[in-house]
Amino acid sequence: MDKAKSQPKQTSNDSRRVATSSDIEVSTYLEIAKQIGGEQPIAPKKAISPPEREAIIVIDFGSQYSMLIARRIRECQIYCELVPYDTPWEKIAPLNPRGFILSGGPASVYQPDAPMAPAYIYDSHLPILGICYGMQVITKQLGGQVTPGTKHEYGHAILHLSDIDSPLFVDLPTSSPVWMSHADKIEQMPPDFIALAYTENSPLAVMGNDKRIFGLQFHPEVAHTPEGKTILRNFVYRVCGCKENWTMSNFINDNLSRIKKQVGKGKVISALSGGVDSSVTATLIHRAISDQLTCIFVNNGLLRREEVERTFNTFRLNLGMNIIYVDASARFLKRLKGVVDPETKRKVIGEEFIKVFEEEAKKIGKVDFLAQGTLYPDVIESTSSVTSASAKIKTHHNVGGLPAKMTLNLLEPLRNLFKDEVRQVGLELGLPEEMVWRQPFPGPGLAIRIIGKVTKEKLEILRAADWIVMNEIKKAKLYRQLWQSFAILTDVKSVGVMGDYRTYGYLIAIRAVTSEDAMTADWARLPYDLLARISNRIVNEVPDVNRVVYDITSKPPSTIEWE
Ligand code: XMP
Repeated sequence: MDKAKSQPKQTSNDSRRVATSSDIEVSTYLEIAKQIGGEQPIAPKKAISPPEREAIIVIDFGSQYSMLIARRIRECQIYCELVPYDTPWEKIAPLNPRGFILSGGPASVYQPDAPMAPAYIYDSHLPILGICYGMQVITKQLGGQVTPGTKHEYGHAILHLSDIDSPLFVDLPTSSPVWMSHADKIEQMPPDFIALAYTENSPLAVMGNDKRIFGLQFHPEVAHTPEGKTILRNFVYRVCGCKENWTMSNFINDNLSRIKKQVGKGKVISALSGGVDSSVTATLIHRAISDQLTCIFVNNGLLRREEVERTFNTFRLNLGMNIIYVDASARFLKRLKGVVDPETKRKVIGEEFIKVFEEEAKKIGKVDFLAQGTLYPDVIESTSSVTSASAKIKTHHNVGGLPAKMTLNLLEPLRNLFKDEVRQVGLELGLPEEMVWRQPFPGPGLAIRIIGKVTKEKLEILRAADWIVMNEIKKAKLYRQLWQSFAILTDVKSVGVMGDYRTYGYLIAIRAVTSEDAMTADWARLPYDLLARISNRIVNEVPDVNRVVYDITSKPPSTIEWE
């Protein structure tokens, strides 16, 4: 019987992982580690740096833009954290807050169960900036009145300043475009507030009082509000009086001592995949505790051309790290033999990875910590009370074969960083640009870019085609602009002609997408001559391929990967 037919059918419950970090082996392992015994990751209860580091706290009411607010504040070089609206003061106080921003959100303040800001926000007498729903929360809690808007105001509007002396408006033109998205309306401001700016449909587009509490009816954090960043800068510098001190070199310095203290004389292991997050994690930890860190680099045989050599050379030869390299390609290929179903491929690869990792970890002897490249968006996603309630598009893929017991502390030095900050840290630590700017690569690797059965021969074909795509995209200086660009080896063969001969060869597909976060993606409008070069080179240089097509579907309805 054809083994393919015996593969389980994909069901609607099957899930795919959306990578927020590019190191799936590592993040997969994290997911597993979370489910097993031992001490589990704890959200830092104390400020991660000396108390003089000031922070702006974004109180999250569930807006899709909440994370963006935090990123914008960090771009002003002020540390910023996003916390669920019901976070207790004990968790906020150690962060040394200098001001609060109340985010937007999908609720309506006059709903009976509408989330409200905790009392400490007002009791602290620190500056507050309410954005959209956040402004309505302030209005309601401080005695104003919000009513349902008769029409939803969505899209561009022109903001006209009525009080040009407000500290929020320094360096702002008297009129500028802003992005609105609200239904409810402020009917009456709380006592002692005054209107500072208006739009055609919102007479109260900005309000404020002399206790440094402000409300914006529009979204300053989005790119559609070009002066939004100036407003946020004014808030943090002029209203809150913060000083720029959130830089990646400060972050590195703070963390070197913190890691040393946390690890003591302990031993740390880390899985290295060559992706940005695991690479930066390992490099930072190595800088702090050098040989107390051992990295395990599993070659699953599903990596791209030269990936193994590049990763190994960077970490072992250039950085002098302690690396255990395991060539497990034969094992993985054996397990994948005859597997056709994409989710079964993922499961098999995940299981095998864990087995190899465990075997190697055991050989090291007693280990105290497992290092992970968890990033801030992952942390927010797993802790936010609001986002857990709101519609989740992301799902995580399931991996079977959990290890029976493992008692390791997790060491996650990047858990407060956004991806762009991780890249800066990587560059400051001396990692090559090529590694720091690497496009995401899925943990199951080329196995989910070979449609149907995975064989050694097919892997070679795909590697050769993928190499050409990567080189040409890099030559055209498009690599960084694209979220991902790669080749897929389809299971289709078609007829061609080369010279006087009829050929019957494989069909290679090219996929290139732009995206912010992989949740949605648009197919990239690559120049025709670039596509022509890629196609010519693949057909001429890769044996057994006689046709190349370009994937012109976006996500949704397609996914980025073909499997
Ligand atoms: P899709 O294909 O779901 O991919 O649009 C979204 C992002 O996730 C990556 N991806 C994976 N990453 N293990 C991973 O580590 C996986 O099983 C997996 N499936 C998809 C994909 O490359 C893209 O960046």
